[in-house]
Amino acid sequence: MIKLKNLVKKYGQNIAVDNINFNVNEGEFFGLLGPNGAGKSTTINSICGLLKIEQGEITIDGIDIKKNPLEAKKRIGLVPQELAIFDELTASENIEFFGKLAGLRGNLLKERINEALEFVGLSHKAKTTPHDFSGGMKRRLNIACAIVHHPKIIILDEPTVGIDPQSRHHILDSVKQLNKLGSTVIYTSHYMEEVEAICDQIAIIDHGRLIAEGTKEELKKLVLEEEKILIEALDVNFNTVDEIKLLNTIKDVKLDENQLKIVTSDSQHILQDILFVLSKNQVRIKGIQIIEPDLETVFLALTGRNLRD
Ligand SMILES: Nc1ncnc2c1ncn2[C@@H]1O[C@H](COP(=O)(O)OP(=O)(O)OP(=O)(O)O)[C@@H](O)[C@H]1O
Ligand SMILES: [Mg+2]
Repeated sequence: MIKLKNLVKKYGQNIAVDNINFNVNEGEFFGLLGPNGAGKSTTINSICGLLKIEQGEITIDGIDIKKNPLEAKKRIGLVPQELAIFDELTASENIEFFGKLAGLRGNLLKERINEALEFVGLSHKAKTTPHDFSGGMKRRLNIACAIVHHPKIIILDEPTVGIDPQSRHHILDSVKQLNKLGSTVIYTSHYMEEVEAICDQIAIIDHGRLIAEGTKEELKKLVLEEEKILIEALDVNFNTVDEIKLLNTIKDVKLDENQLKIVTSDSQHILQDILFVLSKNQVRIKGIQIIEPDLETVFLALTGRNLRD
């Protein structure tokens, strides 16, 4: 549905997007994850035809956006990072404006406005100007404006930054629903928990470069130190620690006061054997916790930095 080939975007000497390639398949929920300044918005804005493409190619649904920008843009609904709504128009008039831009008229336009308002949970605010809306409500209105023309592709640039938890859940649920109904979604964020929870395919970018891409399971496999098992236990001695070290897939075992920290590549299959060793040595177990690597760990392993620095 979306193909980026060798995309480069420079601002003077600053290379904001440095030779990025990726494909987004039809119906996919694609996450673009990266820290501030990574080049997420520049990539998105290039896909939407808002920035001039100097180097590289982008095709949308088989259409080259340099050759036929209008046709390509029709297929996209963008929820930009900076809100794009008019404070002096009512919620309904805002959506009408964007619907008309996309070529909708008459009864169909009216139906779509009501549908979009309902979808984002703002039907009761149809006749109100967004002046006094909360940040989350403004963002939801912005989503309604982006989906009024039923685009095949919905692109959201950090839609949940700085908004209340209720609106955040509403936005995440509604975007998931749009995807289930068949829309292809590109979702950018620097919140790795969000991307991890909702995206099928994830591209991690940093300093304008794509540093890894795959499903969350594939990305986590990039991290060598895979899982940690933390066991709170009494009466652990160093013989027990040594015995655990000899088990399969165990990479490291540390005893820190009453806590055993075990690093393994396969906690599922080895947990039973660990418990057997502990029980044989009459260790009293108070609690067990398994910690899987997250995308933060992946980012740290690939770049040596934290995502949220
Ligand atoms: N209009 C512009 N003029 C000059 N430099 C820009 C412009 N827009 C972005 N940049 C630079 O390009 C780089 C990438 O910025 P971009 O906004 O794409 O990052 P981002 O990943 O969206 O970050 P954020 O999470 O803060 O939104 C940054 O170094 C930024 O300073
Ligand atoms: Mg951005």
